[in-house]
Amino acid sequence: MFDVTKMFDPALTSYKPPKSSAYASWGDPGAISLSGGYPDPEYYPWELIGKLATEALAKDYPRILAYGPSNGFAELREWVAEHSKQNGVEAKADEVVLCDGSTETMSLVARLVLQPGDAMVMEAPSYSGAVSVFLTSVAHVEQIPMDEQGIDIAKLEAYAKERKASGRPLKLVYIMPNYHNPLGTSTTVERRKELVAMAQKYDFLILEDDAYIEFRYEGERLPSIKAFDTDGHVIYTSTFSKPLAPGLRLAWIVASPVVAGALSRLKGSSNMSANHLGQAIALAYCKEGHIYKHIEKMNALYKMKKDLMLKTLEEHMPDFVTWTKPSGGFFLWLEIEEGRVDGIELLKETKGKVTYRPGDSFYATEEGLNKLRLCFTFEPAEKVEKGVILLAEAIKKLAK
Ligand SMILES: Cc1ncc(COP(=O)(O)O)c(C=O)c1O
Repeated sequence: MFDVTKMFDPALTSYKPPKSSAYASWGDPGAISLSGGYPDPEYYPWELIGKLATEALAKDYPRILAYGPSNGFAELREWVAEHSKQNGVEAKADEVVLCDGSTETMSLVARLVLQPGDAMVMEAPSYSGAVSVFLTSVAHVEQIPMDEQGIDIAKLEAYAKERKASGRPLKLVYIMPNYHNPLGTSTTVERRKELVAMAQKYDFLILEDDAYIEFRYEGERLPSIKAFDTDGHVIYTSTFSKPLAPGLRLAWIVASPVVAGALSRLKGSSNMSANHLGQAIALAYCKEGHIYKHIEKMNALYKMKKDLMLKTLEEHMPDFVTWTKPSGGFFLWLEIEEGRVDGIELLKETKGKVTYRPGDSFYATEEGLNKLRLCFTFEPAEKVEKGVILLAEAIKKLAK
């Protein structure tokens, strides 16, 4: 019998989804959702999006409805270059590539530099979407633990050295410096500088994923890792998914001219360009200043929900549970003392009541089932509170 799967890329067929995914119920409409990394849907600027789309089409439909440049609209790339200055990044518009989501950035970068058996590093834990992109690529994925400052730099160096000695040097390191998904914490400025120095020493690329940079509730804005890059070792990506809407599928890349040119060619060969209507909407949304007003409004709301989640955890969780205290982003990370609660039993117990993202989705191995990512942005405040209480009750019920 014809087995078509034998023709598939072995990187794809050997990929094992996290154990928890067979039990997770994050699509359950009856449950309170603390699982997805979504903006609050009540506040999607849908009327504004409709207005901007209509106006843009009336003004410029022959361009918007046609094919266009593979790196995206020049005016939007110029806006991105200008916007990047806030993060200490000096870029020109031709160092920017627009693509259909930063998930696509990851795939394009993997296609650009990773050949079968090449090594790449992710933080442990790391964003579940990125884990599945890189695990289904041809690369060998190595996860390196985090300390209070960011990725453990000594362990990263040891690995880079080991790979260099093996003749198959480390090629790519994927880092989320601001309001990490799932931890909610940020890499210190010192560690950002050390990362660039190490990339220069061992000649690997850093893919800096900055999806949550605008969602800062306390503290200073920190310079990007890319701000310390003097010779093209850092590829930066951020997205319109959180400050506008994920359904528009639009993100950007800032990279050296050589890398931006190569990624633009790959983007072109993948699907011509990022979708034009989304680009036209984002352009008006940014140029007319709506983006910063929206971010300001959402940050007040998200800070309130984050504080409420922290307070509810404080009041209801047993003392064998700990969690991070983020100053921005969408998430916090909960750890249940090892051996106290079975992670799969917890999923079964909470089914239909409250959903969260089980910790094993953030690892390339089977670890992490005693850890949970909670999102505080999506549900209204009363459900954020209720969800945490339901989760605490389930943990206490199952505790050994
Ligand atoms: C860290 C991180 N990177 C990338 C993405 C995906 O972004 P996009 O919607 O642009 O593909 C997410 C989505 O949750 C994320 O948390």
